[in-house]
Amino acid sequence: DKANYRHFMAKEIHEQPEVVGHTLARYVDMATERVTMPVKLPFDFKNIQRVSITACGTASYAGFVAKYWLERLARLPVELDVASEFRYREAPLRKGDLAVFISQSGETADTLAALRYAKAQGAYTLSVVNVPTSTIARESEVVLPTLAGPEIGVASTKAFTCQLMVLASLAVAAGKARGELSDADEAKLVHSLVEIPRLMSEALTTEPHIEKLAREISKSRDVLYLGRGTSYPLALEGALKLKEISYIHAEGYAAGELKHGPIALIDEHMPVVVIAPYDKVFEKTVSNMQEVAARGGKIILMTDARGAAEATIQSLVTIVMPDMGATFAPMVYAVPVQLLAYHTAVVMGTDVDQPRNLAKSVTVE
Ligand code: F6R
Repeated sequence: DKANYRHFMAKEIHEQPEVVGHTLARYVDMATERVTMPVKLPFDFKNIQRVSITACGTASYAGFVAKYWLERLARLPVELDVASEFRYREAPLRKGDLAVFISQSGETADTLAALRYAKAQGAYTLSVVNVPTSTIARESEVVLPTLAGPEIGVASTKAFTCQLMVLASLAVAAGKARGELSDADEAKLVHSLVEIPRLMSEALTTEPHIEKLAREISKSRDVLYLGRGTSYPLALEGALKLKEISYIHAEGYAAGELKHGPIALIDEHMPVVVIAPYDKVFEKTVSNMQEVAARGGKIILMTDARGAAEATIQSLVTIVMPDMGATFAPMVYAVPVQLLAYHTAVVMGTDVDQPRNLAKSVTVE
């Protein structure tokens, strides 16, 4: 049931404050300001030396954000692979390593094969899944559910942000267990997590602005997405979302990689979406934007009020996002990224919920 929405994708984008809130409620105890895993973990994070994260597509970008979180908050080294590579590259996992799998459907063939491989190597297996009865859930030692509810649109939206919520909570739990975070740090991070659903609702109010922008984007042949830090995986996600539903060619890059190649593509016909909350690396991203502007590139900047004030660049469309701490910003910035892909596809007149050549669940390799 699409409720009053034109597409399931629109409904699912708008549901995010609610379902991310449900997921949050399962992973944090608001009264004590502590993270609480819904199941007892069969390992102690103190003894984990290495984590591998494996998934496909959008789920792998959630994993990519989690790599930044686990490394920063828990000082845990993380390797990230797409499942189709992981399953064949014979990664040397050790007994006692933690292998994390992320899958909305829980049926993705490559992710399942990667899980079986990790199990055979003696790693602890933990999966973040949206379908609790799925094969991946059944075969994993630990299952951390996302409470996104059924996702019907082929392009993943609410499952992605719920995955991020689970992984953020896991990273805080890991940081706490490893002594990298104090009680006060944990309380502060939990506070930030609790704010996320409200911030996502605020982010949804950028929609009319984005609808207008989508008309411009729909005229482009190619779109570039740039981000640094946790905004880098989000740039990858933005490009994937746009290409899969609007069929406009898009690429995501780490902002710092611009001058190592993609800058050659920049001209007045190439919109560049820059995802840049005001954070420690913001100034660096501004200099990348200057490089784009100097070559006539059209910049679409997604940032907060502070970032908008500091980025003094011409030829700029700015999507102003709510003020928030930078750590968990990807959950909130996912919203305008999804809306931009959605509205561009609507302008193009494509089949948003059933894009050509794509299946919701990829059960063959
Ligand atoms: C993109 C998308 C896909 C899935 C990928 C993994 O919008 O939906 O990239 O994320 O096929 O699917 P799951 O999460 O079911 O393993």
